[in-house]
Amino acid sequence: MPSYKAANQSTEQRAASPSRLQRIAKRIHMGILAFLVIFGFVSSKFAGSNAKGTGTRFNVLDYGAAGDGKTESSQAFLKAWNGACTAARRHAGVIIPENNTFLVNPVIFEGPCKPKRINFEIQGTIVAPNSPSLWNGCDASQWLAFHAVTGLNVGGPGKIDGRGKGWWDQSCRYHPDLKDCTKLAPTALKIISCNESSLSNIQFTNSPQTHVLIMYCTHWLEG
Ligand SMILES: *[C@@H]1O[C@H](CO)[C@@H](O)[C@H](O)[C@H]1NC(C)=O
Ligand SMILES: *[C@@H]1O[C@H](CO)[C@@H](O)[C@H](O)[C@H]1NC(C)=O
Repeated sequence: MPSYKAANQSTEQRAASPSRLQRIAKRIHMGILAFLVIFGFVSSKFAGSNAKGTGTRFNVLDYGAAGDGKTESSQAFLKAWNGACTAARRHAGVIIPENNTFLVNPVIFEGPCKPKRINFEIQGTIVAPNSPSLWNGCDASQWLAFHAVTGLNVGGPGKIDGRGKGWWDQSCRYHPDLKDCTKLAPTALKIISCNESSLSNIQFTNSPQTHVLIMYCTHWLEG
């Protein structure tokens, strides 16, 4: 199996237009081992119905996240995720509330989870650390990642802002003469090893390299 790191490195393609993204998304929705990579620095929006959470919901503000866009909140996000993931309910949701901006370091939301359906509702904005140095010691290929979750919907109408400028400024592609330039930059959102999952209504902007990578997913659903 190809590693997703390798896939991420071969970013010869610059940008995909939103209409093209929608065509790609349609084409892969039924795939076994669905594989979707969306490259580019353009903002793109995944249109689709906004799956509403029924059942129990875990608001990141209740777990100590700060919506000021400055205070690092990944631990609070993980706690809210763990609440949802271990809830003895059929449906659970993590809420990232509107009118708030959350600074989140590289993080992996791990499954498998108890509920059959988990909605990760991004109503506000999630921003990445604005310096690549924050990735020291972390996997530079990813920022927000979901792994081994069944029944996941990552839905909007919020925004994921990768604040990629620091990465672009040191990219070998744009600055081939730069000593210590970097070839690999994070994918804003990765969904790896999922089943019956979907992505809807999220706006991506300023991704360091790639907006979305979906890999090793069965029964991908249209959001
Ligand atoms: C978010 O801000 C809008 C515009 O100011 C306001 O109408 C809305 O009620 C706010 N939402 C919440 C949950 O505070
Ligand atoms: C994925 O979902 C289908 C349909 O519910 C189920 O039959 C299958 O066992 C699931 N696969 C995994 C790996 O959970």
